[in-house]
Amino acid sequence: MTSFEKKHHPSRVMDRRTFLTLSAGAAASFAMAGLPRTAAATPDPHGLPPLPYADTDLAPVITARTLSFHYGKHHQGYVNNLNRLIPGTSYADLSLEKIVTRSSGNPDHTAIFNNAAQVWNHTFYWHSLSPKGGGEPPSALARKMKEDFGSVAECRQALLAAATTRFASGWAWLVLDSGTLKAVNTSNARTPLTMGMTPLLTIDVWEHAYYLDYQNQRKAYVQAVLDKRINWEFALKNAEL
Ligand code: FE2
Repeated sequence: MTSFEKKHHPSRVMDRRTFLTLSAGAAASFAMAGLPRTAAATPDPHGLPPLPYADTDLAPVITARTLSFHYGKHHQGYVNNLNRLIPGTSYADLSLEKIVTRSSGNPDHTAIFNNAAQVWNHTFYWHSLSPKGGGEPPSALARKMKEDFGSVAECRQALLAAATTRFASGWAWLVLDSGTLKAVNTSNARTPLTMGMTPLLTIDVWEHAYYLDYQNQRKAYVQAVLDKRINWEFALKNAEL
């Protein structure tokens, strides 16, 4: 494992339960489906990691209806597509992160990149939210925000701007870029994992993330997430300040 892979290994950016589930995708797939494992079955290489909370826990900011569709249909769909696309390819036995980084920018493997990155991005998004999120960041993260943005409020405003100025589908991210905190956005499935940055947290700004609850009011969704559900502790853990 290279230093880059170690740095972005899911055990560093997601909790151990999630990491173990990602690693044991086959077992997770069977468990999620409630199916028995049989000798004849060919396990899927990648599973759908469990949510770190119940699907009702983010309401009213993100309702159970949105969460159940987003996780159960969209995230599961990307997992299913990835498992359909990679058998027999050079990606078949790679970790999710390696699939993302190796397929990035390869025009022959766009579908594999899109689905692998969306699996990773969504798992990272669920951990970027918390039923007890929002409010003031922990002191070490707040200090870093003041250093690099001038204030916590300016950092929050930069994240809001990154989320609301992304035309069409994509993601807003708080990242470390060469040791500096930045708010950036990416289009479609693109991810800072392939840009030499360390992702700290993300907000999904695809319409499926908010349309049932906020219709076309993306800004209202992002503001509510930043006020009440963003998981600053997760960002601090990833930043290793
Ligand atoms: Fe999404």
